[in-house]
Amino acid sequence: MRVLVISNQKGGVGKTTTAISLGAALAERGERVLVVDLDPQGNATSGLGIGKDLPGTYGVLLKEQPITEAIVHTEVPGLDLLPSGPDMAGAEVELVPLMAREFRLRQALRAAGAYDTVIVDCPPSLGLLTVNALAAGDGVVVPVQCEYYALEGLAQLLNTIEAVRQRLNERLEVLAIVLTMEDRRNRLSMQVIEEVRNHFPKLVAKTRIPRTVRLAEAPSFGKPISVYDPESRAAQAFGGLAREVGRRLRSREPIALAGSA
Ligand SMILES: Nc1ncnc2c1ncn2[C@@H]1O[C@H](COP(=O)(O)OP(=O)(O)OP(=O)(O)O)[C@@H](O)[C@H]1O
Ligand SMILES: [Mg+2]
Repeated sequence: MRVLVISNQKGGVGKTTTAISLGAALAERGERVLVVDLDPQGNATSGLGIGKDLPGTYGVLLKEQPITEAIVHTEVPGLDLLPSGPDMAGAEVELVPLMAREFRLRQALRAAGAYDTVIVDCPPSLGLLTVNALAAGDGVVVPVQCEYYALEGLAQLLNTIEAVRQRLNERLEVLAIVLTMEDRRNRLSMQVIEEVRNHFPKLVAKTRIPRTVRLAEAPSFGKPISVYDPESRAAQAFGGLAREVGRRLRSREPIALAGSA
């Protein structure tokens, strides 16, 4: 089992869209996939058509409820979900006094069962919930929106990842920066792509995610893009990203963090 963490403390950059769409794309390739919704907003949960009133991540992280009882199936065969909801709003604070507070997710996932890939959708912050994800992770995927200020905050994120690697989880590595919401007709979008590539030549995934209204619509139907519009460019892009992430995980190219920011 490998654990992919989708993280960027910047809000609205495409983390949840990436978590859902990549999870569905991997499941379509025959993998057994678990999406863990760590965000109190519960966007991955509603985006997969599941209600936000279940005793999901909160019960597992804070009340030591068995993870197998909290996991639900989605309508995509092979794709399961550990759902989140408003009860997670206090989790960040409630975790603080607990024993082994950084390792609650890692411990829970040990009992999750036979998944090939776990994808963790992080909230837009670098607090204890995200640290739990990083402490449990093998690879981090960082969605970056093709907008001005895209690089802002990335150095801080990479520093946090490096700190977690040194202190809590030596297996952790940054697998890919994924450029999201690409608009080929927009010159700024193209300039941002160039800039991010220049800063992180090895890290940027070849696959870029186009800006398309189909991706924005899919969550309101509770379906991943591969179900909502399987022929769309966006669905194909996430299929490509699934292959690329798989290759990077297998080759485990060491990626130099220091000096790359
Ligand atoms: N490629 C895309 N094309 C068009 N709309 C998109 C695309 N990717 C994401 N969106 C839309 O942009 C918004 C933000 O995306 P998303 O929720 O995936 O970001 P996020 O990083 O998870 O946000 P948060 O930080 O709040 O968790 C959503 O409304 C989503 O539907
Ligand atoms: Mg999100």
